[in-house]
Amino acid sequence: MRERERWGTRIGLVLAASGNAVGLGNFLRFPVQAAKHDGGAFMIPYFLAFFLLGIPLMWVEWAIGRYGGIRGHGTSPGTFQLLWKNRSAKYLGIIGIVCPLVIIVYYTYITSWTVGYAVFSLCNKLPKVHTIGTLEETLQPFSHFLQRYTGTGDFFLTPSLYAYGIYVFTLLLSMLILARGIARGIELLAKIAMPLLFLFAVFLVIRVLTLGSPVHPEGNPLKGLAFLWEPRFSKLLDLNIWLAAAGQMFFTLSLGMGALLTYASYLRERDDIVLSGLTTATTNEFAEVVLGSSIAIPAAVVFFGVANTEIIAREGAYHLGFVSMPAVFSFIPLGNIFGFLWFALLFFAGITSIVALTQPAVAFLEEECCMEKGKAVCCVGSFLFFSGHIPILLQGTLDELDFWAGTFFITFFAAAEIILFFWIFGSKKAWDEMHRGADIPIPRIFFFLCRYVTPTILIIIFGGWMIQHGWQEMLETSFPKWIARMYLLMTFFLAGFLVHKAWKKRETSL
Ligand code: ALA
Repeated sequence: MRERERWGTRIGLVLAASGNAVGLGNFLRFPVQAAKHDGGAFMIPYFLAFFLLGIPLMWVEWAIGRYGGIRGHGTSPGTFQLLWKNRSAKYLGIIGIVCPLVIIVYYTYITSWTVGYAVFSLCNKLPKVHTIGTLEETLQPFSHFLQRYTGTGDFFLTPSLYAYGIYVFTLLLSMLILARGIARGIELLAKIAMPLLFLFAVFLVIRVLTLGSPVHPEGNPLKGLAFLWEPRFSKLLDLNIWLAAAGQMFFTLSLGMGALLTYASYLRERDDIVLSGLTTATTNEFAEVVLGSSIAIPAAVVFFGVANTEIIAREGAYHLGFVSMPAVFSFIPLGNIFGFLWFALLFFAGITSIVALTQPAVAFLEEECCMEKGKAVCCVGSFLFFSGHIPILLQGTLDELDFWAGTFFITFFAAAEIILFFWIFGSKKAWDEMHRGADIPIPRIFFFLCRYVTPTILIIIFGGWMIQHGWQEMLETSFPKWIARMYLLMTFFLAGFLVHKAWKKRETSL
C-alpha cells in the first residue's frame, strides 16, 4: 500500500475543511433561500437542521473518512466496502465521487464569472446607473450585461470569448493546485484564501451596515437584517421551508458530497475529529449567517426595499450576486473597489470548494486505479473541461444538474452514510470510532441523534422531496433536461466501470 498524503498542520486542515464548506452557497445561495422563504421563517428550520443534521453528519463523514484513510481508501467506494461487507457497497459509494464531480462541472463555471466580474469591477467596466427608477429599469443594464457575458438564447448559449477564457483559466488554476497535493496545494490555498475571504467579508459587512438610508427612510440595512432575523412562526407549517432549510444545510456544509470524507481520509489514526469537525461547522455557519446574511440582502433592501428584494431573491442566486450587487456598487462611492472585494470574496469561496469537490475523483484514480497524481489530475481536468461545455452552451442544463447532483443525490448519499455507519457497521463501533483521539467528548444525546433521529429525518426529507418535487421533476421533459440526465447516467456508468475494474484487478492479484 502506498504512503498516503497527510495534512501538514491542524490549522491548515481546519482552514481547508472550512474552505471546503464555505463557498458560493454561503454568500449567494443562503441569502436567496432565506429571502425566498420569508426570511425569519426560514431561520428556525435552518438552525434545527444545523443541530439535527449538520453536526451529526459532519462528525459521521469525518469519522468514516478517517476510518477509510488509515486503511488505504480515501473515497467512498473503498470506504463503504470496508464498512459493509457486501459486494454492492462499493457501487453505492460511486455517488460520493460522481456527485461532487458533477457539481463542480457547473460550479467552476459560476466561480469563473467572479474572476471576470472582479476584473470588470476593478477596471470600471461594469454598467453605471445614477438614479433609482423602478426595479426593472434600474437592474436592466446589469442583467443585459450578465446576459452578454454568459450568452443568451432559447437553447444554445454563446458566451463571450472573455467568459470562456476566464472559465479555462479558473479550471486550469484549480487543477494546478490539486496537482501540488494536499499539504502544498490545497492546504496552502486555504491558508491564503480563507483569511482574505474573511477580511474582505468584514470590510463589506461594515460598508453595507453603514450605508444609512440613502434612498428613503424605509430602506436601511437594519430593515434588511430584521427581514432575515425576525422569527415568523406562522409560516412554519409550509413543508417547503423545511425542505429548503435542510437542502441548504447539506449544500453549505458540503455534506453528502463525499468531499469531507476524502479530506478526513488524510488524517492520522489518532487525530481529533470531534473538535476539528465542530470548528469547521461553526466557521461555516459564522461565514453564512453572520457574514453571508449581512451583505447582499441588506444592501438590496437599502436601495430597492424589502418587497423588491424578495423579487430579486426569487430570480435566483446569480441575479443577487451578479445583477443586484453590481447595481448597488454603482450607487456608492468607491463602488468599483467594493465590487472587486465582493467578487474576490466569492472567488476565494468558490475555488476552495472547487478543489475540495474535485479531490475525491483525483484520489479515486490515484488509489483505486493506481495512477500517478499528475496523470489523475489531467484525466479529471480533461473530463471537467469537456463536461463544462454542457452548462456553458446549453440553456437549462445547469439547473437540472444542480437538482440531481446538488439536491437529490446528496440527500440520498448522506442517508446512506449514516445508516451504513450506525446500523450496518454498528452503532457502538461507530461511536468509538468518532471518539478516537477526540479532544472533547461528544454529548451522549448525539448518539441517540445519529442512530435514530438524523436517519429518520433524512428518510422523511428524501421522501418529502420525492413526493413534492422529485416525481414532478422526473416527469418533466425537455431536450436540455434529457442531455443533463444522460450525462449524469453516463458519468455513473463510467465510475461504475472503473470501480468494477479496480476491484477485479485487486481480486486477481490476491
Ligand atoms: N459547500 C459549498 C458551498 O457552500 C459547496 O458552496
